[in-house]
Amino acid sequence: GAGYFTFDPGFMATGSCESQITFIDGDKGVLLHRGYSIEDLARDADYLEVCYMLLHGEAPTTEQYAEFKNTITRHTLVHDQVNNFFRGFRRDAHPMAMLCGTVGALSSFYHDDLDISEADQRLRSAYRLVAKMPTLVAMCYKYNIGQPFVYPRNDLSYAANFLNMMFSVPAEKYQISDAVERAMDRIFTLHADHEQNASTSTVRLAGSSGANPYACIAAGVASLWGPAHGGANEACLNMLEEIGSVDRIPEFIERAKDKNDPFRLMGFGHRVYKNYDPRATVMRESCHEVLAELKVNDPLLDVAMELERIALNDPYFKEKKLFPNVDFYSGIILKAIGIPTNMFTCIFALARTVGWISHWHEMLSQPGQKIGRPRQLYTGHTQRPFSKINK
Ligand code: SDX
Repeated sequence: GAGYFTFDPGFMATGSCESQITFIDGDKGVLLHRGYSIEDLARDADYLEVCYMLLHGEAPTTEQYAEFKNTITRHTLVHDQVNNFFRGFRRDAHPMAMLCGTVGALSSFYHDDLDISEADQRLRSAYRLVAKMPTLVAMCYKYNIGQPFVYPRNDLSYAANFLNMMFSVPAEKYQISDAVERAMDRIFTLHADHEQNASTSTVRLAGSSGANPYACIAAGVASLWGPAHGGANEACLNMLEEIGSVDRIPEFIERAKDKNDPFRLMGFGHRVYKNYDPRATVMRESCHEVLAELKVNDPLLDVAMELERIALNDPYFKEKKLFPNVDFYSGIILKAIGIPTNMFTCIFALARTVGWISHWHEMLSQPGQKIGRPRQLYTGHTQRPFSKINK
């Protein structure tokens, strides 16, 4: 029979994983980063402030923020050889396939980051990754659509710089509206970290062997790609488009309940939240704001709102404690900003990189940290003699 194993996310002999970065109360729908609620951070902080506190433990002072922002800004450029690396991909490669490859390949450009024994060395690679992910993600998009890569600009904010690298073309400047820049930054914040989810646990396990930070983040990108995890935002928008109109919702609700039907409501349910995902609440408000400010009337928002209303009142979903999660509304905002569906999970990976690398840094800073070794409950054959065959 298949081996069943219990995952030991802390990779320590005690089998527990200690972390001071993020706290989740799944029953109450509470999410704190370094003690600050996600609601407060989404309203009053920007993504780089959240990055600083995830990495350093405290919110930055004005001076610390300015220095951090300056450092990140000056590391957004990638080695020019990376451009050639893309040339090996098919133009129609999924952006996550390209991102997974190029992030791992950064190991080959930053040999000085391969020594991770000191905190400042680990933070240097953490800053490089936070700075370069937007550039790599935008390169995946530009390569996909056959447009030239756009270099990062130091005069733009983190979110505005990313959007400019995504949408600017040599022929004309890309006009960034405040509403779109704010929405993009808030989406980054809402995806920054989430405790020991599948991809973060993957990064921790990879890092526990001493693998270099770029290889560990590439492992995180790979794990996030799955439709049960970060791939859900892309799958959710595809689902809303498949439903198409409000009157077809009951048919899909019934399918989601049918154990013989593999269909699941994408953007619904969670391993931990048995209440509303607080990020979904903020995302829903942001969705209405952005669509109103951009004067976008997207029928998929009507489908999403009605689907949410019906599911939240349905006895099955109530009994299973299934609520919208972070991926339920994000796709509608990203689509309104002009980001294509196949780029959604790359956006999630971009934003989650700081969470991954903060956990990686925290783990390697803990005294007595050991290599991860998930244990298993063996359910296979007992020992038996082997009979040679005539070959
Ligand atoms: C993310 O871990 C994290 O923190 C992840 C994340 C992060 O920030 O890193 O929050 C990001 O991955 C959010 C989740 C995105 N995924 C989706 O939206 C995909 C759709 N959701 C499902 O695949 C599912 O809800 C999971 C994978 C998220 C959780 O699956 P579980 O662990 O099976 O959920 P559960 O144990 O609470 O399920 C209870 C029951 C089960 O049925 P029974 O075995 O009890 O009969 O509800 C069913 C599930 O089959 N169920 C669903 C459902 N989700 C769970 N039925 C229909 N539609 C769904 N979406």
